[in-house]
Amino acid sequence: MNVDSIRNDFPILERKLNGKPLVYLDSGATAQKPERVIEAVNRMHREQNANIHRGVHQLSAEATELYEQARERVRSFIGAALREEVIFTAGATASINTVAYAWSERFLTAGDNIIISEMEHHSNIVPWQLVAERKGAEIRVLPFDVDGRLKVELLDELLDEHTRMVAVTQASNTLGTRPDLRPIIEKAHRVGAHVMVDGCQGVVHGGVDVEALDCDFYAFSGHKLYAPTGIGVLYGKRELLEQMPPFLCGGDMVDRVSFAKTTYAPLPLKYEAGTANFIGAIGLGEAVEYLRGLDLEAVDKYECELMRYAEEQLLGIDGLQIYGTTENKCSIISFNVEGVHHYDLGMILDKLGVAIRTGQHCAEPVMAHYGITGMCRASIAMYNTQQEMDALVRGVERAVRMLR
Ligand code: ALA
Repeated sequence: MNVDSIRNDFPILERKLNGKPLVYLDSGATAQKPERVIEAVNRMHREQNANIHRGVHQLSAEATELYEQARERVRSFIGAALREEVIFTAGATASINTVAYAWSERFLTAGDNIIISEMEHHSNIVPWQLVAERKGAEIRVLPFDVDGRLKVELLDELLDEHTRMVAVTQASNTLGTRPDLRPIIEKAHRVGAHVMVDGCQGVVHGGVDVEALDCDFYAFSGHKLYAPTGIGVLYGKRELLEQMPPFLCGGDMVDRVSFAKTTYAPLPLKYEAGTANFIGAIGLGEAVEYLRGLDLEAVDKYECELMRYAEEQLLGIDGLQIYGTTENKCSIISFNVEGVHHYDLGMILDKLGVAIRTGQHCAEPVMAHYGITGMCRASIAMYNTQQEMDALVRGVERAVRMLR
């Protein structure tokens, strides 16, 4: 893990903000892009742009090959067995909405229930609420404790023979918590329920092996994984995806179309209607290749060391509270300081060149849990340094002095 060499790969890190070096601690919202991803996207626009799966001409063949190569790179990166199980979407939100809609059409009926963990991002809550409402199903909530630990032991009380889905994150975007997914998935499967894992933060911090995990569906966004925006992945077990109806309909997802009857393309195209964001997918494939050149365990360890280093100092600030204190959490520090509004703190840090996120982080139930309206969040990536942690801490100290 050579942080200097990694930093050199990310051109934006040379920027200055307000005359100060950029300290980017908002990678949980979107990560910065390495040169080779930027280059891959540029190259596509400059030299190889043509629509995929449609043309007989050479450019189209090249773009199609690169798109399918990106799928293969992602398949191998997440440990999926089959290319049919890797679907490119616009992002994790699109992935989860696709499953919620198409899966519920096939598998959810009135009287069923869906279990959602209390620490989910809105995108792993609201789609389930919507389909539950439509189908007359019930939503049940698996709570977390004051440290941000998911109370997996309560799952037995919530699961029953009517449970059809358990929706849970691999790593919470607010608390950093990484729930132990294996027992959750095993218990869900024992009653015949499926499991949707939101991998947005988890895939970045340590990666995933979906086969080993045995989850039924897995979603993540490219832009948090050092890839472009507007591209994401839905992994689903083939036997489930095959039983589900299409979601978005149009070109590329069909086999034969007539006014009498339309048949659908086989997986994965069945869920890739319209012109796919093939340039984004190729950018994602490049990001994945970049990450394969690194030891992701070492990266995760490094990020967590930075987090612990910063947390230790932050806790020395009078009235500062950290939300999410589980032992194996990923490199996210969410906090508030008594008597200081999170928004004001974020604004002052910005003046010092330190970019953090403030607010509800699309996880209002987490805020409700602690009875707060929002929090500050520093999310740490592999390109951050110990000096940047010092800048964060000094910045928070200074902001608190000014605001109190
Ligand atoms: N879901 C992203 C975050 O956690 C945007 O900030």
